[in-house]
Amino acid sequence: MEKLLVIFIFASSVMAEPFIKSCGNFSLRTSSSRDEDVDTRNNIRKGLMKAVNISNMFELKYNPNLEDELRKMKSCDDINHGPNFRVDLKPDEKVKTFLQKLAKAMKLNILYVGMFHTSAIEYFHPGQSFIAWCDLNVKCKEEYVDDKNEKQSIETDKILIYGPMGTYSESDFKFGEPGSDCPNGVVTPPCEWSCELCEGPEVPVKTTTPSKEMSAGNSIDADSAAPFASVVLIYSIILLVNIVNVY
Ligand SMILES: *[C@@H]1O[C@H](CO)[C@@H](O)[C@H](O)[C@H]1NC(C)=O
Ligand SMILES: *[C@@H]1O[C@H](CO)[C@@H](O)[C@H](O)[C@H]1NC(C)=O
Repeated sequence: MEKLLVIFIFASSVMAEPFIKSCGNFSLRTSSSRDEDVDTRNNIRKGLMKAVNISNMFELKYNPNLEDELRKMKSCDDINHGPNFRVDLKPDEKVKTFLQKLAKAMKLNILYVGMFHTSAIEYFHPGQSFIAWCDLNVKCKEEYVDDKNEKQSIETDKILIYGPMGTYSESDFKFGEPGSDCPNGVVTPPCEWSCELCEGPEVPVKTTTPSKEMSAGNSIDADSAAPFASVVLIYSIILLVNIVNVY
């Protein structure tokens, strides 16, 4: 009986839902594809760039390699910045205050005022050129003080990640004629909403570590490999139980 209980507990921990549900599905209710979603975000970045004359604001491109960084996270507590990426939900408070002051001084649109109070400030990091996101199987909580100085708390089951910068400070904002401080020039047509932002680096080709099971078809990605691994584990448990019973 005791043995069964232990096995049951072990098996249910193996079968627990993973923290990350899926990555790369479009995330804005108004968009119908991932590209459209990224483009909408670029449009909002461009809006700020023009409203306050930021000279070094990069275009964001979806980078699936960043999803791997999110897949390493196993709980809300694991959501943290890395050396070459930053996540939402962990805003830099100094930059946040800076942006709030900027919004006030420039009498910015209510959209920006609202966003500069939540953790969404990473969205406006001029030096970031990559973005990715994943849906979670759980909700993580975020607390913030709104523009009326009232404490708010929101829950989110989506996490956004930006790269390649791991730091964020006031000095990341350069002011001047938009596009005048772009190392690779500005985005030129064909582009819809991202034209005039700084052209960022190419998205690196996604590198997947080849493993024995995947070498043949190469069609199993990390999401589908996880349940497969649990099946293998459960079979090993059953096998182990049988061996134990024999002796
Ligand atoms: C993507 O998101 C849409 C809208 O939220 C949802 O209807 C759809 O099932 C999602 N697709 C996947 C593969 O998760
Ligand atoms: C931005 O720059 C343009 C042209 O250089 C200027 O006309 C405009 O007033 C500036 N806007 C702000 C908010 O500084």
